[in-house]
Amino acid sequence: MQGLFITLEGVDGAGKSSHLDWLADWFRARGRVVRQTREPGGTPLGEHLREIVLHQAMHPETEALVMFAARREHIEQVIRPALAAGEVLISDRFTDASFAYQCGGRGLPEARLEALEQWVHGDLQPGLTLLFDVPTEIAAARLANAREPDRFERERGDFHARVRAAYLRRAASHPMRIRVIDGSRTLDEVRSQLAVILGAFT
Ligand code: TYD
Repeated sequence: MQGLFITLEGVDGAGKSSHLDWLADWFRARGRVVRQTREPGGTPLGEHLREIVLHQAMHPETEALVMFAARREHIEQVIRPALAAGEVLISDRFTDASFAYQCGGRGLPEARLEALEQWVHGDLQPGLTLLFDVPTEIAAARLANAREPDRFERERGDFHARVRAAYLRRAASHPMRIRVIDGSRTLDEVRSQLAVILGAFT
């Protein structure tokens, strides 16, 4: 079995987390070993860095560097070993999130992130990225009912609209890898759409 690297992306409140377990079960039902992980995080050090970057104010470039520091460790300890063992590795967010939040949201130049991406995983990209897309108002309404917001969820103004636009630009420039899912549909409708996409990966 060949390893398969899948990432889930979207603005906060787009609904990606509701589909994580379903996706994992879909592959397990087809005989695959599945590992679920997340960014920032996924390793003991990465989870420490997550706590810091989600809750402590810092310069936008520091924020980008912390994301990639956590990612470097995650790739080494979790992602590469899982893929080498032929597993399906599903990560809740990866580098597309850095382009969306740190470039789109915070305004860092893409060239900065491209350099980090090249450094940290120049030879490794997800085989499939599912981008859950919803209008910003729907995402905001969902978040209003959520638990204590983190630094990103608390952002005001057009931050989330810029993040969404950056995700969609990224999808347009990587049409083979990134599949856009309409996250404003019902769970069942989204799952039917996912099943069609996943059919190509069994
Ligand atoms: P998220 O994955 O949405 O977790 P939860 O569902 O528990 O809120 O939270 C992670 C936050 O980190 C999210 O707001 C996006 C942000 N983020 C970045 O800004 N850059 C990155 O590179 C990554 C991986 C995440």
